[in-house]
Amino acid sequence: MLADPLLDSVLLTPDALKQRVAQLGRSITAEYAGRSLTMVTVLKGGVVFLSDLCRSVDLDVSLDFMAISPYAGGGPAVRITKDLDDAIEGRHVLVVEDIIDTGLTLHYLLGAMRSRCPASLQVCALLDKDVRRIADMPVAFKGFSIPDRFVVGYGLDLGGRYRNLPFVATLKDEVMG
Ligand code: IMP
Ligand code: MG
Repeated sequence: MLADPLLDSVLLTPDALKQRVAQLGRSITAEYAGRSLTMVTVLKGGVVFLSDLCRSVDLDVSLDFMAISPYAGGGPAVRITKDLDDAIEGRHVLVVEDIIDTGLTLHYLLGAMRSRCPASLQVCALLDKDVRRIADMPVAFKGFSIPDRFVVGYGLDLGGRYRNLPFVATLKDEVMG
């Protein structure tokens, strides 16, 4: 796959991802011991991470999904194009994100979810480009801090491609301009 001309190098190997996801699963299991948990992800980038992570969590877990798209005019607000199927009032909710960049998307989504009165609301992010953060964002469970490079694989895409790579790779600089 690295023969793909757009990919630069592997940042996180399948083995590194597997080990870290297992550790996160153990931390989440300990944090929510004795409670039921709703794990929510944002389509589509988070699904690969969620599907591995939820199998490392030994709790009574429900899964739910949201989808969003940016408003045509730009700006930080996003439109919810697919809402959660189930009510979250009184439930412990963990939002599972592939990557947090500026944090603006998640900031908006957390606000929308908080207004529905969950028992608790926390964030688990596989990747965090913390130097890019604009919105203040507490991340309770974090996989890896990564440098400010565009990455693909393990759910992350470039124009819809590369989500199925079993590793996370950087793109060649000339691709991003
Ligand atoms: P934020 O609102 O700036 O935090 O945007 C986060 C969203 O931007 C993520 O959910 C991804 O969809 C996308 N994104 C940010 N950085 C990357 C990247 O390096 N690769 C792929 N998608 C990215
Ligand atoms: Mg995304």
